[in-house]
Amino acid sequence: MNVAVVGTGYVGLATAVLWAACYDVTVLDIVQSKIDAVNACKSPFEDTLISARLAELAQEGRPLRAATNHPGALCGVDMVMVAVPTNFSEAIGAFDASVVEGVLAQVAAECPNAVTVIRSTMQPGVTSALAAAKRLSRVLYCPEFLREGRSLDDCLHPDRLVIGADDPSIAEEYRTTVEDVYASNGVPMPPVVLCSTQEAEAAKLAANTYLALRVAFFNELDSFACHRGLDAGKVIQAVCLDTRVGDHYNNPSFGYGGYCLPKDTKAFLGSFGEDAPSELIEAVVNANASRKRDITEAVLALGVERIGVYRLVAKANSDNLRSSAMIDIVVELVRHGADVTLYEPIVETDSYLGAKVVGSVEELFGQCDIVLANRVTPEIAPYRAKVFSRDLYGRD
Ligand SMILES: NC(=O)c1ccc[n+]([C@@H]2O[C@H](COP(=O)([O-])OP(=O)(O)OC[C@H]3O[C@@H](n4cnc5c(N)ncnc54)[C@H](O)[C@@H]3O)[C@@H](O)[C@H]2O)c1
Repeated sequence: MNVAVVGTGYVGLATAVLWAACYDVTVLDIVQSKIDAVNACKSPFEDTLISARLAELAQEGRPLRAATNHPGALCGVDMVMVAVPTNFSEAIGAFDASVVEGVLAQVAAECPNAVTVIRSTMQPGVTSALAAAKRLSRVLYCPEFLREGRSLDDCLHPDRLVIGADDPSIAEEYRTTVEDVYASNGVPMPPVVLCSTQEAEAAKLAANTYLALRVAFFNELDSFACHRGLDAGKVIQAVCLDTRVGDHYNNPSFGYGGYCLPKDTKAFLGSFGEDAPSELIEAVVNANASRKRDITEAVLALGVERIGVYRLVAKANSDNLRSSAMIDIVVELVRHGADVTLYEPIVETDSYLGAKVVGSVEELFGQCDIVLANRVTPEIAPYRAKVFSRDLYGRD
């Protein structure tokens, strides 16, 4: 079977590498540097497992091929996986699904009988509407739940696979195909939830909104403890030793960030419309903004002259700045006239967001009175006395 994966990002490349153990897979993109990287057996983003697997596939004599998504690129393809961006549009209060729509138009023109599996995150109801508009009957929505930095590992060992299809026979056929993929990778088939495309779309947004809710809850509890002069760690420990709550995913931060949680919560809120109550979802979105404001005010209240910022990335092992909470905090600090210096290896300019950029941790701590760090990594542990962080447990 010929499989084309459209979009060579975190989701697309991890999916392609997983499926390449079993089928003839080509990844397509519109960015030449990504195509070149894959053809040179290198991941275009940080993921050691993907790079290692790309090299292995080449050694086995069946390298993963990457190519430009030009017109005609899908001709002769049996299955199309769609993993292109669906960014949140503030203007419409929903995901901008235009890139996915463009790929479905391409499928309709070039391989209308192919099974099309949308992996991009979608708003409830949009997959079936787009499929109907393009007169495609074999479209599934199978959400991805991976974490950046460990995308292939998460694809190999997901907690569940959600297979959304409006025709149960297509869902069953796809489940059998996926069983072959997991068997070829030598890992157990994950638990499967078969449902409609709209149920799968809702499940994806609800799962991320629940995670965001949990982050927002422990952040708000941490803010409460700080304002009352309490030991937040003791309060959180006392809450989380209750096995119904669980002692995990409870480490306070400056706010949730990254590509998915901020946009998925907003898109989920936008999906409710007028008829279903959504107070809790709205509160999650608002609580994240309040947390960032509270942290900014706490830093300004310290009255120090030179404020440092250690890393802008959302998580310790992230390699991009998408919707980072720290960026919003830097912007606010600069807006209040603070003198901000930051260390972020991903940023290659001398100044960024109105802050001065330095090239080393030593310079950062040497030049600043306090340094904000969302996570206290081993690299900054020796400077702990100057660090301002709410990281209580040294993990995400
Ligand atoms: N990043 C995550 O952790 C994650 C997790 C689960 C789901 N998702 C969802 O998966 C989708 C993709 O996310 P991602 O993080 O992989 O994005 P990404 O930005 O890393 O990758 C998307 C890729 O699509 C390419 N692209 C854009 N238009 C194209 C076109 N017309 N033809 C071919 N390629 C095109 C881009 O150049 C880019 O390489 C999004 O809907 C996202 O919400 C992401």
